[in-house]
This record gives sequence, C-alpha cells and structure tokens, in this order.
Amino acid sequence: MKKLGLGVLGLGEGRSIISAGLGSPRWRVAGLCDVNEALGRERLAEFGLPTKAFTTDYDALLADPKVDVVGIYTPDHLHAEHVIRALSAGKHVICTKPFIDCLDSARKVLDAVKKSGREVMVGQSSRFFAPFTRQREHFEQGILGELYCVEACYNADHRWFLDKPWAREAGFKWLYGGLSHPVDFIRWYLPRITEVSGYAMRSPNGKKHGLVHADTFQFVMKDADGRVARVSGAYSGPVVPTARDSNMSCVLRGTEGVSQGDYYDLRYAYKAGGRSAVETFEDQDDHYFRFGGHSHHAGEYQNYIDYFARCLGRGEKPRPDAGEGIVTVALMQAMDEAAASGQPVKVREVLARHKLSRLFPR
Ligand SMILES: NC(=O)c1ccc[n+]([C@@H]2O[C@H](COP(=O)([O-])OP(=O)(O)OC[C@H]3O[C@@H](n4cnc5c(N)ncnc54)[C@H](O)[C@@H]3O)[C@@H](O)[C@H]2O)c1
Repeated sequence: MKKLGLGVLGLGEGRSIISAGLGSPRWRVAGLCDVNEALGRERLAEFGLPTKAFTTDYDALLADPKVDVVGIYTPDHLHAEHVIRALSAGKHVICTKPFIDCLDSARKVLDAVKKSGREVMVGQSSRFFAPFTRQREHFEQGILGELYCVEACYNADHRWFLDKPWAREAGFKWLYGGLSHPVDFIRWYLPRITEVSGYAMRSPNGKKHGLVHADTFQFVMKDADGRVARVSGAYSGPVVPTARDSNMSCVLRGTEGVSQGDYYDLRYAYKAGGRSAVETFEDQDDHYFRFGGHSHHAGEYQNYIDYFARCLGRGEKPRPDAGEGIVTVALMQAMDEAAASGQPVKVREVLARHKLSRLFPR
C-alpha cells in the first residue's frame, strides 16, 4: 500500500493532524507550512521532523510532488482561497470546519473541485469521535425506528480563544467556528433542513473581550418531511461541570428508541431494542487527547484521515464532501439571517440567492 503524502497548512490546530499522520500506517507527513516561522520550528522539533519539511511559502508546499493531500487549518476566512489553490495544484484536500465562512466563494470552490477531479472532505471532527460514531452505527442499524427529532448543542468556555487576533476581527463568527459542530450533527441526520428560526446575542463576556459578533445561540429548525431539530451553543462563559453536562451532545429521538452521544467522559447512552445502556469510551482518552487537556482533536483527525485514505483506496467519495459542506454553510447563513431579522429563513432561498439550488439534497 502506497502511503499518502500529507501536507499541513496552519500549524495551530494543524498540530493534531501532524500527530494523526505520524500515527497512521496509511500516511507520511511530507511537509508543513505556516507564515509563522517560529511556530514551524516548534512543530519540527515537537515531532522530530527535518528542517526541510517546513516552509512559509504555500506555493512551495503545493509544488512538492511528495504532497498528495493538503490538510487546511488556517483561520476560517482563508479556507476558501487555500482550498482552491490546493485543488488547482492537483492536490486532494481535507479542510477543517467551518468549510468556508460565507457563500460568496462557494461557486468558485465547486468549480475548482470539478475542474481538479480531486476529492475534498470537510474535517467535521465530531463525527469521528467514538460516542458519536457509535450513535451513528445504531441509527444505521435502524434500532431507533423512525427518527423524528434531533437536538444538538456545543457549549465551551472559549474566552482563551479570543487571544488569537483573528478571533476578534469582523470576519470571525462563533456561529460558524463553534456551532458548525452541532449544525453538522443535525444535517448528518436530517440533511434536508428547510427552515430555521432563532436568536443570537453577544454576551457581556464576549463584549468585554472585544468579540465583534454573537457568541450565544438558540435555534429551532424543521426539515422537508416536517421533522424538527434544535441547536444551541455559548462560547464566552463558564460551562456546567462535566459530571452533569458533556458540553457537546447529540440526542436522536425515534419511534422505537432514543440515544444520546456525549463529548466529555466519551459517553453514549441509549434506550432501544429492549435495552437501556450507558457505554463509555474513556479507555480511548489517550487516543483522542494527546497534548494534555481537551483543546486539540488528534484522535478524531486520526480517525478521519484513515477514513479518507480508505475512501481513496476504494474509489469512494469521502463525506462530508464540498457540496454537503456548502449546504451546511448555507444553513448557518440562514441561522445568521434569522437571528438578525427575528424571522424564519428558508435554506433553499439562501442557496438560490447564490445560484446553489442544485446542492439541496433530493
Ligand atoms: N475540532 C476541530 O475540527 C477544530 C478545532 C480547533 C480549530 N479548528 C479550526 O482550525 C482552524 C485554525 O484554528 P486554530 O485554533 O489552529 O487557529 P490558530 O490561529 O491557532 O492557527 C492558525 C495558523 O494558521 C497560520 N496562518 C494564518 N494565515 C496563514 C497563511 N496565509 N498561510 C499559512 N499559514 C497561515 C497562523 O500563523 C497560525 O499558526 C480554524 O478554522 C478552526 O475553526 C477545528
């Protein structure tokens, strides 16, 4: 089996995919790139990589024939440009969430995907975290019966994140940066969300720390078949202790059962198929969290790059792909507009305004 050459752009959270690449028999870490030279040196030392593996020049990384796939971990507003450049250089792409930060560049991204013939996968890491993977397995086995309601949330005390200069710029929105995790859960189960209503606010802590946009959200939505969903998140204040709340969860309600995946304590609970059980995956803590604390996602990335490599090997399309990622961005844009106007917003209308109607799943 030929190993895939991984090039990593953006070495903050990009640290996790370097660890994942080095930990996988399917991958070889071929090159790193960041405009911050000191950070580049730090990562080379951390992972024992040779000096020549780092560059500050993205074009040089893209020109390297040893790089087959570029993993993109730059600030949200740069993803579209970086994805297009990687595809134009003939590379496959794994791009972290949020895939893009507004729909203005969506058609250019789709054109670049089509022209390149390369694969693009959005790195929706939470899909690849054990409790949520297990929940998906149960869903696919059909033990919940007919799914009719999904509730997802992601809360985090991310005041530390606001030390990053780009987090206090007008381009940065927690609606995309944070809420993209639970919104992706909703679309994983209810891909055809048609309409959303909700509220958003900038919390007192958000204002104090110089945040430009809202950091606290409550939304409800429905899909084309009348099923309903709820999404919430708050990012600039204390969170409930993990003994009582896992900070990120996804609840599926079906006619024959119910299940809940929980981020912290790697926990999954369900009542279905004549059983009621709580499973934990705490034994996998070292796989998921490799740098102390819970601020990086190396294990999830390990799981998704191995999935990506398996898909390429079998000629299958890795998911979520660019089209699915863009519809999720359209839903987040609809949420943004609903919060601003106080009115329900239709996802199809947002897509139509950007000439993207064909992406709405049939
Ligand atoms: N669970 C997840 O999937 C997860 C978790 C955390 C962060 N992220 C995502 O990762 C991305 C990066 O977040 P972060 O926390 O690492 O931010 P960060 O600011 O710590 O890191 C971004 C890096 O990109 C570099 N950079 C900026 N512009 C560049 C350019 N033009 N060329 C090359 N390098 C450039 C910066 O120097 C910096 O080192 C964001 O999109 C964020 O949403 C995803």
